[in-house]
Amino acid sequence: MTEPLSPVPARGLPLSARAPGKCIVFGEHAVVHGAPELAFAIDLYTQVLVRSAETTRLNADAEATAQNPYFRSALERAWSGGPPIDVRAVSRIPRAAGLGSSAAFAAALAAAFGAARGGVDRATLAQQAFEIERGAQGVGSAGDTSTSVAGGFVAINGGGAEPLWTVRAPDQTWKVTRVADPGWVWVVAHSGVPRSTGDAVRAVGERLRKPDGPSLLAEFTRVAGDGIRAVAQGDRATVAELIRRNQELLREVGVSHPRLEELIRAAEPAAEASKLTGAGAGGSIVALPIPGKEAELVRRLARAGALPFVVRPAPDGAALV
Ligand code: MEV
Repeated sequence: MTEPLSPVPARGLPLSARAPGKCIVFGEHAVVHGAPELAFAIDLYTQVLVRSAETTRLNADAEATAQNPYFRSALERAWSGGPPIDVRAVSRIPRAAGLGSSAAFAAALAAAFGAARGGVDRATLAQQAFEIERGAQGVGSAGDTSTSVAGGFVAINGGGAEPLWTVRAPDQTWKVTRVADPGWVWVVAHSGVPRSTGDAVRAVGERLRKPDGPSLLAEFTRVAGDGIRAVAQGDRATVAELIRRNQELLREVGVSHPRLEELIRAAEPAAEASKLTGAGAGGSIVALPIPGKEAELVRRLARAGALPFVVRPAPDGAALV
């Protein structure tokens, strides 16, 4: 296991780096507005291979330097002035599914570029990965990229035991801390409904500007804060209750979706609780299975038309491979 604060060492080209996707247990959307969040890295990765080349390309496509906003943002922010490179990227993380594929791509590229430029400490890597994703998306918090850089369970904006780093935007900061993995099995199910993180984040921002916005944000804050403590204490019953409450709040701010609600209902007989995970408006749900009913839960979600899988928290964050 990589020490969360261990630097990514220097390495010459060619080199390969990988970074995990993530699953948010509490606090998505509210984290953009300063509330706490709890997320863990999942054992699905994006891996990049970076080699010297005559012209810069992504997966053999020279147009990607202009057309892929994440690649362009990474080149501008972490490879500026560098020589042309050939980048190959492969990912096991479903795209536009709420599972952090863009954050993992940003973190893997930042780790690879940092290594090629003499090594990079993890706090700098977290800052760079955030800036790459924010530069491409225009909105968003440091939660996804910091989880991908740190691995394991992380709390954003309070609640964790061990401080990791602080990520800064011109208007905001996110304090990132470590939470111990309670050792539970989680099930994620991808609805197959695609969505845009940026659009969902902007829509929630609008919703929170309504008169009841501050009280909704206060309840998001309470739920995630209590949820972080309950996970740290291994208190499943409280975690399940708070997952259900978090889903009610996400529904209230308009980012659930009829398919996600169907999946949550389909999961009920085999899950202690489930909620959408990530930006919502499509994408995926995460469920805490009733112990011993993991396989039944996966079958139920598949029968309901989703792509379900058991996810294991990945202890390691972005790293050279
Ligand atoms: C998306 O995975 C999580 C959101 O909270 C956006 C963000 O934190 O950047 C919806």
